[in-house]
Amino acid sequence: MALALESNLKTGSVLATVLSLLLPAVIVCSVTIKPLLFEEQLLWVSGVEGEVNTYRIPLVTFTPAGSLLAFAEGRKSSSGDVGAKFIAMRRSTDKGSTWSPTSFIVDDGLDQDGLNLGSVVVDQEVGSVILIYTSCFHLYNCQPASTLMVESKDDGLSWSSPRNLSVQLGVKNFAPGPGSGIQPFEMTDGSIIINVRNQNNYHCRCRVVVRSWDGGMSLPIDDLYFDYELVDPVVAAGAFQKEGILFFTNPSNAQQRINLTLRWSVTDGNSWEKEALQIWPGPSGYSCITSLDSGSADDRRHIFVIYEKGQKDYDETVSFAKIHLYGGR
Ligand SMILES: *[C@@H]1O[C@H](CO)[C@@H](O)[C@H](O)[C@H]1NC(C)=O
Ligand SMILES: *[C@@H]1O[C@H](CO)[C@@H](O)[C@H](O)[C@H]1NC(C)=O
Repeated sequence: MALALESNLKTGSVLATVLSLLLPAVIVCSVTIKPLLFEEQLLWVSGVEGEVNTYRIPLVTFTPAGSLLAFAEGRKSSSGDVGAKFIAMRRSTDKGSTWSPTSFIVDDGLDQDGLNLGSVVVDQEVGSVILIYTSCFHLYNCQPASTLMVESKDDGLSWSSPRNLSVQLGVKNFAPGPGSGIQPFEMTDGSIIINVRNQNNYHCRCRVVVRSWDGGMSLPIDDLYFDYELVDPVVAAGAFQKEGILFFTNPSNAQQRINLTLRWSVTDGNSWEKEALQIWPGPSGYSCITSLDSGSADDRRHIFVIYEKGQKDYDETVSFAKIHLYGGR
């Protein structure tokens, strides 16, 4: 996590950066995280909405304007990874209290091996949100696999048509998702570092790092590398760094996808605090964490987790949880 952490120290608010530089020990030692699951709501329920059989692979992010955008694959006719899908999106302008109806921002038609999410990249400078996904990832009755993106320049209200990144990346080397995490950190030199779990190496859980010099419009293949130091089974799911503390969510169980748990580290992921917050004991799958770094007291106190949640199977719903970092006993 060294890369991600170092990058983030350069990117936070001016206040956070100054404090981090001047008072790292004070920040770490004075913070006692006691998270409380404060509010939760289901954003998508599989099997009840129109043309969608199953919602999976949730992503969530804040936009530069402070809106929340939640995304998921809307799998049209089965719960499987292969098959035709929509990218479903809901938008909240009140930090997750209320949400827009679902819009389907990408529709792959009747593709036998359709789209798979994917990663979301926020360009703070330009103010745009970029969603990266694949198509034909499994090479099921199609070829080659492609990496695509759509972009919103108006806070998630409207989205560009798909753009084929494989023209620059090639069709073999880069494949985000499904279930990829991402941490865009715009660096002081103006580039964006994109840190993605590599689907081809899913089982070794190492990450791919790509750097863009033009706000995410292109991702030069020459700057792509595998960062083997980021291998760690604990960091395979949701990850987010906030004010020097690294938060992780995953289904914390060796055998089954159950027991979605939030952990946190004050040592850049080298060790984990003994306490943990169980968000959901039952079936749970992929998850994604976000938080807003505005500096306001309210924003400093909260992180938000989106995750696959069910009673019998983890793909029954996609749930959004608001977590108060200092609300527990
Ligand atoms: C994307 O571009 C690559 C490389 O030019 C091409 O092989 C592939 O068919 C394209 N994919 C789509 C979905 O257009
Ligand atoms: C749930 O996760 C916590 C934290 O890792 C662990 O202590 C507990 O044993 C887990 N429970 C189950 C049923 O896996």
